[in-house]
Amino acid sequence: MPVVDVVTLQVLDDNATFGPFLPDLVLPGLKVVRHTGDAGNSAMSRNALQAEFGLSILATSQRAGATAKVLVDFGYSRETISNNLALLGIDLSNLDAAVLSHGHLDHYGGFPGFFGQNSSRKVPLYVGGEEAFCERVAMIGNPPLLMGSLDRNALADAGFSVRISSTPEVIKGQAFTSGTIPLVSFERAAIPTQMRPGKGCQKTGLDPAKSKATQLPDDAEHELATCYVVKGLGLIVIASCSHRGVINSVRQAQKISGVDKVHAVVGGFHLVRPRTEDEARKTVAEFAVIDPTYIVPMHCTGDVFTQEALRVMPQKMVRSYVGTELIFSA
Ligand SMILES: [Fe+2]
Repeated sequence: MPVVDVVTLQVLDDNATFGPFLPDLVLPGLKVVRHTGDAGNSAMSRNALQAEFGLSILATSQRAGATAKVLVDFGYSRETISNNLALLGIDLSNLDAAVLSHGHLDHYGGFPGFFGQNSSRKVPLYVGGEEAFCERVAMIGNPPLLMGSLDRNALADAGFSVRISSTPEVIKGQAFTSGTIPLVSFERAAIPTQMRPGKGCQKTGLDPAKSKATQLPDDAEHELATCYVVKGLGLIVIASCSHRGVINSVRQAQKISGVDKVHAVVGGFHLVRPRTEDEARKTVAEFAVIDPTYIVPMHCTGDVFTQEALRVMPQKMVRSYVGTELIFSA
């Protein structure tokens, strides 16, 4: 896998914001800059960065003078994404590629907010499997909630050109996807949705055993992590929702890159139901073994993991919010 000089992760959408009161940080191999959307203004803006139950991160990396801009997930709503992009002053005219971690609304819902409708662009969008397009049912509440499906035509209209691959892919010579994440640790696939083969997705693109069902529990086989190897630091793993397990995601990144040292694990670790509090604590213990320099929990990680990790390894924990910029370089 390629080795880059620097990776910057700009959080565009996440579950929380935190105004102007947190300090920027300069740590070994990591700078944290807290953007509030007020840059260049003499007063606090009346238009605030917005948070919602979703995730979107813009990753910009550099290797030997070349830049790669990769969008990881689209957030939940077009309105929030459009608002945050405008306030953060983000220029996406040279976006090279996008990765959709998995086919859940809180990760794809905001895609019309990036380039608008009827875009003439064809930005490659990496997806881990046809099943990302299947209609989802969220198994919460009674009756369960229909989550809908990701519309291929609307994606194309919004400027994205889908590339399905279940094996690791190198993106613009700098980033790489995990491919299908094997279940190698204590972690099980835990995904609070079921999927409907043939609705939104094409049965022919699915595992034959799955395509016969009208509705079946999700195993997140199509889920992708997005990863980098940074010179002098090691791996950066962006595990958007970790339905195959955040430890499994890290193990896969180590295996396919041949790099053992993990500098940072960033993203949603989904240590909330259907996972248990015991599993959240076990994940902290497993992180102690992997020993990443930094852990940056976001989105669906949950309080039990966060509190336990802050107790056990506070020096590794970095809190991140909408607008936070994480700059990794040696
Ligand atoms: Fe999510």
